Amino acid sequence: MARELIPVIAIDGPSASGKGTVAQGVARALGWRYLDSGALYRLVALAALELAVEWDQAQRLAEIAGRLDVQFEGDEVWLAGRRVTEAIRTEACSVGASRCAAVPAVRSALLARQRSFRTPPGLVAEGRDMGSVVFPDAVLKVFLTASVEARAERRHKQLIDKGIPANIPTLLRDLQERDARDAERPVAPLRQLPDARLLDTTRLTVDEAVAQVLGWYRERAKPG
Ligand code: DC
Repeated sequence: MARELIPVIAIDGPSASGKGTVAQGVARALGWRYLDSGALYRLVALAALELAVEWDQAQRLAEIAGRLDVQFEGDEVWLAGRRVTEAIRTEACSVGASRCAAVPAVRSALLARQRSFRTPPGLVAEGRDMGSVVFPDAVLKVFLTASVEARAERRHKQLIDKGIPANIPTLLRDLQERDARDAERPVAPLRQLPDARLLDTTRLTVDEAVAQVLGWYRERAKPG
């Protein structure tokens, strides 16, 4: 099947908006593949931290991105044969990923890899530039967000559930800083596209958000 004919649902939005959980739910419901593009930026950051590469060494970061030896298996992520599922979720990797993501050469080094996830019967891809850059021909584009307070509370609950100490004011400030960096960078900044549907999940459960995306997809997919 020609790659352009394989349907893609692109879900973009800010950090901790719940887009990962919603995208996975949609992928499961449709039996499609799922791409967590943020994980790729986190993997570049992890590799850079381990090799002591600085965030301003654009060329070296791009080389790391081009050579990433990654495997995704269910919820698990492997880097060069090593399980790094939790290691890429640390605060250091979150900050590093946001730095790497601002480097144009890193973004282009990851393009082909992201597009290789487009396999039959379909792909649900989530990130910041899925609808704008990576899959501009997506059949459905969703901009998924929630108030920054709701996002900080969700992140707080996730961390506490994992036994990681956290406090809401710090999380709120970190999220605001990361939002600003992701929205203000010159390459592929985070913003809602004119052809994307806005899904504000501040007052929605995960199941309601998944149902909304599936509803929009079915509307689009209807002939005529
Ligand atoms: O979704 P996340 O928090 O795992 O993303 C980590 C970082 O990578 C975040 O700062 C935004 C950036 N990112 C990006 O620029 N483009 C993407 N498609 C996905 C993530």
